[in-house]
Amino acid sequence: MCGIVGYIGTQDSKEILLRGLEKLEYRGYDSAGIAVIGDNGVQLFKEKGRIAKLRDAVDYDVVAPAGIGHTRWATHGEPSKLNAHPHKSTSGRFTLVHNGVIENYSLLKNEYLQDVTFVSDTDTEVIVQLVEKFANEGLDVDAAFRKTVGLLHGSYGLALIDEKDPDTIFVAKNKSPLLVGLGDGFNVVASDAMAMLQVTDQYLELMDKEVVIVRRDNVTIETLEGEIMAREPYTALIDASDIEKGTYPHYMLKEVDEQPGVIRKIISEYQDANNELKIDEDILKAMNDADRLYIVACGTSYHAGLVGKQFIEQWAKVPVEVHVASEFSYNMPLLSEKPLFVFISQSGETADSRSVLVQVKEMGHKALTITNVQGSTLSREADYTLLLHAGPEIAVASTKAYTAQLAVLSILSAVTAKSKGIELGFDFLQELAIAANAIETLCDDKEEMEKIAREFLSTTRNAFFIGRAVDYYVGLEGSLKLKEISYIQAEGFAGGELKHGTIALIENGTPVIALATQAHVNLSIRGNVQEVAARGANPCIISMEGLQTEEDRYVLPAVHETLAPLVAVIPLQLIAYYAALHRDCDVDKPRNLAKSVTVE
Ligand code: F6R
Repeated sequence: MCGIVGYIGTQDSKEILLRGLEKLEYRGYDSAGIAVIGDNGVQLFKEKGRIAKLRDAVDYDVVAPAGIGHTRWATHGEPSKLNAHPHKSTSGRFTLVHNGVIENYSLLKNEYLQDVTFVSDTDTEVIVQLVEKFANEGLDVDAAFRKTVGLLHGSYGLALIDEKDPDTIFVAKNKSPLLVGLGDGFNVVASDAMAMLQVTDQYLELMDKEVVIVRRDNVTIETLEGEIMAREPYTALIDASDIEKGTYPHYMLKEVDEQPGVIRKIISEYQDANNELKIDEDILKAMNDADRLYIVACGTSYHAGLVGKQFIEQWAKVPVEVHVASEFSYNMPLLSEKPLFVFISQSGETADSRSVLVQVKEMGHKALTITNVQGSTLSREADYTLLLHAGPEIAVASTKAYTAQLAVLSILSAVTAKSKGIELGFDFLQELAIAANAIETLCDDKEEMEKIAREFLSTTRNAFFIGRAVDYYVGLEGSLKLKEISYIQAEGFAGGELKHGTIALIENGTPVIALATQAHVNLSIRGNVQEVAARGANPCIISMEGLQTEEDRYVLPAVHETLAPLVAVIPLQLIAYYAALHRDCDVDKPRNLAKSVTVE
């Protein structure tokens, strides 16, 4: 949610900031702005809408070697030019960008800023006004910034500039991601290394509640008490071509197509020199010591967790509960004696999941994070990490991260089973490789997916996804994909549940996409299809080779039944993609959403 960039160097900063923001647009895109600082003071440009609109608003005659920028996903205050960042203090001396939510902003307003007139509806404005107040009271800016940061409760990534000191950007973070990138004669600030990869691959990881003074030639990290901290940079291992669309019209389509390669990469990353699957000994020990796993995640990652539960329980014989992170704290289950928490998160930054991680760590429990982003907050703060190796996922709708999550969960389950002496009864590695091939076959059959989307979804206002057993979980993911990018109201149901209420919504022509990949429920899901068809629905059965009947609309290549979710999700992703295209929706940046949800 929201992306921040900053640059201080010798080149003109505008283009570097704008390009950085374009790379961060996945984090929010309802308004954007930059503030640049040079000999002519601070120049502010902001617009409601996308970065492209901001580009048009920027005055290219202004040249300034430093600046900060922001792309917003609104929390406090509607998306508008007024609420767009950067925000200025009353005198105009300080200008600030913020990613996160300040929980105590009204308290701070009442206690310190009663006589200040606020111009926006944001929580952010409180921060910049506090810095001005403390600076006016005589503190130097570093101390005023530290004092302000010390008063904030909530999440924040901050970058501040001072009109009286064009040679410095003040930076701080808590819970929200923020990095400082190091260059030769310049330094940068970014919510995600991807934003500044164009200028550097050297980054400093920042810790919560640190304050960083970023200048052209040096960077100083301080604690809130002013103690200076030493920190070695690391190299961001992201291939710049991974974050480009290439010849694809959308990132989503590119990422769907990358899935066979991602599964193959995961297989090789989790193999040892003898081509045997391997997982860190510490993780295996934690899996073997646990009497129950608690998977905690949100959205698509939660759906991956539901499938993961099947792998772990069936193969490794460890009981698993799967929880939505945002509900966990209020509905905390009665925990077993030796729980292991497993956080699944593409970004590794999701605030809902992070708050559960903090809570369970405080309770003294062990946690494993399965994430796509090395060094992300959830990875750093858990005891163990398993990486997805999916490469950057930029489209807001998650695709390759989901299949990567399933692949990693299946490997974790298979290796744990082996360590317990449990035989799976089939060649897991070979079956996973077969699943990768099947995904490739499906990705090559886009024309057919496009036809299905046209046939079933071009005019409908709603759609249902049904399945039984693990197909139900894949249906949940299919319905989420469809609704988030095409805005068709779509819901996933367990086949047997429809008759308990939801069947009342079936009308003439309502599309019902039914999955039939599991032999033991093949007959019963087809019975559910008959029930909806008898009431006028337009069923689209997607089955697995070997289980098909004549009525089926699409038959998936045969794979091992337990691995069917990796394959069955592909047509659902592609059907959602084409349905969104037919409706002229912005596939990669659906309305109201952001890729990395760093507010609770
Ligand atoms: C949907 C989607 C979201 C995310 C969810 C969790 O396509 O991408 O539902 O899965 O916001 O995000 P991560 O996995 O980054 O924790």
